[in-house]
Amino acid sequence: MSNLLKDKICVITGAGRGIGQATAILFAKEGAKVLISDIDKKPLQETISLIENFNGTVKSFVGDVTKKSDCENIMKSAVDEFNADSIDVLCNIAGMTKDKMIHQMSQDDWDFIINLNLTGTFNCVQAASLYMRDLAKKEKDSGAINSRSIINISSTSARGNPGQINYASSKAGVEGLTKSVAKEWARFNIRCNAIAPGFIESRLTQPKKNEKDFGIPEEQKKAIDKLQLETGLAREHGKPVDVANVALFFASDLSSFVTGQVLTVSGGMIGSI
Ligand SMILES: NC(=O)c1ccc[n+]([C@@H]2O[C@H](COP(=O)([O-])OP(=O)(O)OC[C@H]3O[C@@H](n4cnc5c(N)ncnc54)[C@H](O)[C@@H]3O)[C@@H](O)[C@H]2O)c1
Repeated sequence: MSNLLKDKICVITGAGRGIGQATAILFAKEGAKVLISDIDKKPLQETISLIENFNGTVKSFVGDVTKKSDCENIMKSAVDEFNADSIDVLCNIAGMTKDKMIHQMSQDDWDFIINLNLTGTFNCVQAASLYMRDLAKKEKDSGAINSRSIINISSTSARGNPGQINYASSKAGVEGLTKSVAKEWARFNIRCNAIAPGFIESRLTQPKKNEKDFGIPEEQKKAIDKLQLETGLAREHGKPVDVANVALFFASDLSSFVTGQVLTVSGGMIGSI
């Protein structure tokens, strides 16, 4: 590893599983001080152990991104735990699906997903503002402004997907949010980009047997696997680390002149690019 994030204070939500966990591990390997958060305590503990195994620097805060006060406490604990005043990188990864066809989508399922994926991302950006935008403003006034980065997670479903009207709308919203933050905060040297993963193996995409389980129906999973293998890059399926690698690019100075972008990470599967 090349210490691309040496001593950077990085906050990562949804870090108990999947893409969030892979991102937390990669960032810690790159020298970051990671404050990881998730609504579920047990998987968060697993991420902590995985990072501590290689002596990475990690602290955690159990929180729900749909609650404004939790988001404020996540950001505050990042600066308090690392005795810092700045958040250098914010990765908004917490998110979920609750798929239904339009005629079957309940108001609760609509509200739940918009609230988690879109409002949750907004809540975190706003809560981090104190340690990103406000601090950058002071630095600008004194003439030495640091580089900071926000990374949001969209989806290839943002372009519309049957059975995902709530999810697609929430992720399209995340893309609008990303470009708005990019435009508003560029003058403070805060970049804001999004990643649009295609089909990545995680709890969200595992084959499920029962309606209430996490994942997608087995038949649908088989069809997507087939399409990925037949039309995507000739390699194994998308893994959380494939997304984490792109998050690292956006978090580090490698992307220091890139903002307001949405980068698709789908292995080129037809229908996803
Ligand atoms: N897996 C894919 O194929 C795929 C594709 C496109 C986008 N995404 C997006 O990537 C992100 C991560 O998904 P994943 O595939 O790693 O899923 P995952 O279920 O493995 O991880 C999501 C994590 O978010 C946490 N979370 C859920 N609700 C929360 C809340 N209210 N507050 C805080 N944490 C909460 C969960 O506990 C979980 O640990 C999501 O935003 C998802 O929409 C995933």
